[in-house]
Amino acid sequence: MFPIQTIDSYTNQHRLSLGLRPLLVGELYLTRKLKHPVYIFKDGTFYPVIASGTVPTKDQILILSKHQYREVYVSRADAEDIKKNLETALIKITRSLSVGNPMENGAKDIKLVSLHLSELYKNPHKDELLMTQYQSVQNLCKFLIEHKKYQPYLFQSLLSENFHFTLVQPMLSSLLLLSYLQSIHLFHDREIENLFLASYFKDLGFSMIPSGKFDLKTLTTRDQELFANHADYSFDLLDGRIPLSKNHLTMIKHHHFMNDKIKNYLVKDQTTEEAPEIMFGLESTLVSVFDIVVAMTSDRPYRKGMSLYQSMEVIKRMMADDYPQEFKALVIFFKQFFKN
Ligand SMILES: [Fe+2]
Repeated sequence: MFPIQTIDSYTNQHRLSLGLRPLLVGELYLTRKLKHPVYIFKDGTFYPVIASGTVPTKDQILILSKHQYREVYVSRADAEDIKKNLETALIKITRSLSVGNPMENGAKDIKLVSLHLSELYKNPHKDELLMTQYQSVQNLCKFLIEHKKYQPYLFQSLLSENFHFTLVQPMLSSLLLLSYLQSIHLFHDREIENLFLASYFKDLGFSMIPSGKFDLKTLTTRDQELFANHADYSFDLLDGRIPLSKNHLTMIKHHHFMNDKIKNYLVKDQTTEEAPEIMFGLESTLVSVFDIVVAMTSDRPYRKGMSLYQSMEVIKRMMADDYPQEFKALVIFFKQFFKN
């Protein structure tokens, strides 16, 4: 564990809590120079972990992420600076993505877009934030389509940041979807772009769930309902606000249609009623499949991630009957994508 220093007076703790703002750990990358220390909150106490007057290092940020600190606490002044810096950096990289080294630019952009998603989670009704995200994601998508050879590197570079799963799951699953769609040569670039956008925005409904719920080890029935409803929330938040077709919005609304089938399979519960058989096309199936693969292969507070091979066993049960060719192509695709 990293060295921490306690603020142990009750009065000081109380005063501190009034002046602090929560911040996602990854957002510390946008700090220029801290006006005040960065704190973590543990067992009812604030501990300063990064000193004022310094710029947080990559190592400090990674250590915090690795110790499962989703949020840290900074002064209001630092929080405002970081928010502004993030917005400016994202707009700048979005405009100059094709200038200079594409691999470095892509890695920077993918990180900034994912971090900026946290701002949208905090204010999902703010149109400017949604549009900044939409345009940045659309631009990044065009870049990814053009730079196929960098896709595996960009995937790994985002994964290695150890950001909270709510920030990276949309991008990682959408990047895999895009790369796979390109590999099977069945879709035009324009359709790939729309599917990428639908896949990316499908979890915006997470913003309706209190952030603390994401790190609970067990969920109450009410919490489970809340999580199950996030696809509906995503639809409600996006309908009429972004230029996606009704088809793609419907895809977002039903993007968890395979999950009940999978739950039944994983617990091998033969008594549970089968999920209703609604007809979903190949596109919806693929959006759902990549979401599930990324979720199953990553760690959550309540379980360890499974291997890609294990997740493919599950996916095989879910799609191989309806889409045997596409499933075979999926296996080949993953072998290629993760060959190094
Ligand atoms: Fe989801």
